[in-house]
Amino acid sequence: MEMKRRPTTNSRNAVQRYAHICGWGTSVPERVLTNHELARMVDTNDEWIVARTGISQRYIANGRETTASLGTAAAREALDIADVTPDDIDLIIVATSTPEHHFPSTASLVQDALGARNAGAFDMLAACTGFVYALSIAAQAIQAGAMNTVLVIGAETLSKIVNWEDRGTCVLFGDGAGAVVLQGSDSPGGVLASLLRSDGSGGDLLKVPAGGSAMPASYETLRDNLHTIHMNGREVFRFATRVMADACRDVVAAAGLTMDDVDVIVPHQANKRIIEAAARGLRLPIDRFAINLDRYGNTSTASIPIALCEAVSEGRIRPNDNLVLVAFGGGLTWGATVVTWDVTPKATVTGLHKMRRQALYSVARMRSIVRRGARAIEGTIWGAQAPDGIEPPHREKD
Ligand code: UT7
Repeated sequence: MEMKRRPTTNSRNAVQRYAHICGWGTSVPERVLTNHELARMVDTNDEWIVARTGISQRYIANGRETTASLGTAAAREALDIADVTPDDIDLIIVATSTPEHHFPSTASLVQDALGARNAGAFDMLAACTGFVYALSIAAQAIQAGAMNTVLVIGAETLSKIVNWEDRGTCVLFGDGAGAVVLQGSDSPGGVLASLLRSDGSGGDLLKVPAGGSAMPASYETLRDNLHTIHMNGREVFRFATRVMADACRDVVAAAGLTMDDVDVIVPHQANKRIIEAAARGLRLPIDRFAINLDRYGNTSTASIPIALCEAVSEGRIRPNDNLVLVAFGGGLTWGATVVTWDVTPKATVTGLHKMRRQALYSVARMRSIVRRGARAIEGTIWGAQAPDGIEPPHREKD
């Protein structure tokens, strides 16, 4: 069985680079919302939610817990395990459907909170498939030799865009974040292959209609609840069951493996029945899938990294295991990645280790405050004066 690619050399005699996951972490809000509590808010009940989705509870962010703060906390955990400092990071990608703003990107806010002074940062919008997209792009940047250390985060506060009066959607979603650190290495393995797909003709099936340039915020959009998730659940269900198994099969073949070589599948945690359908489609036992949606609900881009981290901490994922990460979501989008889990954690995270890191983050916070202050002073000194060579705009008189 050919499990891993061997190092090869290209025409310039450079050793091929591989992108390995070397750190992982999660963060969820403090507050748990159970099905029983939901049943007091909308016309639903625990039996229906468990039977139709598999979900029993989800985490809900409070006012202080945001997409950036959850993403930053998950990232710090991942950096600890990877024994990577913020200055080592070349790029931060935050996959999210609930960014803090249209801009600045949530990734830039995370970059500032971490004090990652040498990193580029951007958000990835591919709905629930975002983490798989981001992981694939990150791996390719490393494999191409352009980057060495990339932080990939899936972070969501979906509770802020859920219509809490719509029982068809509000029972499904939860908040949380998961992160991985990818690093380049000459040793074969890591991210082996990815498959990314989209079918925009199904865009209307799962969308937040207003708040973008197509439908800017107005009194009417607020009145009609158009800033919340609108979904045709049955159609999304049908689409998901169609694409999950095919995506797994195709990406595993692209990695030069067979389904027998796959040890664990980490699917997007949307609905247990969708995962069961994928298992049937692949003729695999359900215990080959990492499932934790009963406790988290659907956390969109965060669902795969959270499930991955749990499977690692439970010992379900072991060194040299081949994993398939597979997701689907709004867009419509879907995608899958094959990863060989072949890097053991570099660092044992001790108290001292944590304190040293904490000091780094405190310095980052101070640096950010000083920068903001300096910018404000600069603005006051220079006032309305235009930068050299740029004339202030003027309006023609009517
Ligand atoms: O990340 C991707 C995000 N989206 C998804 O993955 C969603 C995929 N779709 C699904 O997971 C399922 O379609 C749902 C869980 C959303 C719905 O399950 P379903 O088995 O497809 O139910 P349904 O929409 O066909 O509705 C069946 C019945 C309806 O009542 P009637 O018309 O048969 O009287 C619904 O009104 O269930 C009713 N219903 C509920 N009843 C109690 C819908 N939501 C609820 C609810 N509690 N929360």
